Amino acid sequence: MKIGIIGSGKIGGTLGKHWASAGHNVLFSSRHPKELGSLVKEAGENASANTVEEVFEAKADVYVLAMPFEAIDRLSELYAGEYANSVILDITNPYPERDGEMAQEVRDANYNASEYTATKFSTARTAKAFNTIRASDLKERAFDTGEKLAVPFAAQDEHSKETVQQLIEDIGFDAVYVGNLSDTKIMDPDEKLYGMSVDKNELLQAVHNK
Ligand SMILES: NC(=O)c1ccc[n+]([C@@H]2O[C@H](COP(=O)([O-])OP(=O)(O)OC[C@H]3O[C@@H](n4cnc5c(N)ncnc54)[C@H](OP(=O)(O)O)[C@@H]3O)[C@@H](O)[C@H]2O)c1
Repeated sequence: MKIGIIGSGKIGGTLGKHWASAGHNVLFSSRHPKELGSLVKEAGENASANTVEEVFEAKADVYVLAMPFEAIDRLSELYAGEYANSVILDITNPYPERDGEMAQEVRDANYNASEYTATKFSTARTAKAFNTIRASDLKERAFDTGEKLAVPFAAQDEHSKETVQQLIEDIGFDAVYVGNLSDTKIMDPDEKLYGMSVDKNELLQAVHNK
């Protein structure tokens, strides 16, 4: 798959390296793409450094939102002509202390953070995954040959569901389907699945004993 990474920091950088080593075509982006040199070198021949605009213009199969939550409004508006029908894989979390008032509004609203993203990127198909994982687990437990770590995910439709399940499994995690976007409250910060570091059986139990 062609995967555009929006925000190549701790989480986006690590995910992109994993997917590149699994054989995907990874387009890292940054507002300062010249600073992506060492990341791209580490990720190898399947990865490239780009501006955010270049990545959206490249018509990726999947866009991974791995930047601060507050950038969702601007990016969804600015590149509205580019991401229609692509999968938006939202890994962001709203943190008022970092993202300001809009994040507090989403935390207090009667919809989930993933539904907010789906409303903003309305012509795409939104899925949520990897927002609950600890940065250290993402780095160290990928491609685990022992007991696999389970990653919860939710998706808006069948295409985004299959795509994201594949992306989770391609880097050596077990995928556990939580439901559609209206079911993602348990994945939000401070909720039940947030920061959980368990195998598939334990995660299934946590998801189904709501
Ligand atoms: N860290 C965790 O444990 C963890 C776990 C799961 C989910 N998350 C969520 O994942 C997201 C990324 O977290 P992180 O820890 O990877 O953060 P990070 O290391 O700070 O990386 C975020 C990247 O986003 C880019 N960025 C910042 N503002 C932007 C904007 N307005 N437009 C476009 N790109 C922008 C920055 O890249 P440039 O300056 O190069 O453009 C930066 O490298 C957050 O929403 C976070 O809540 C974090």
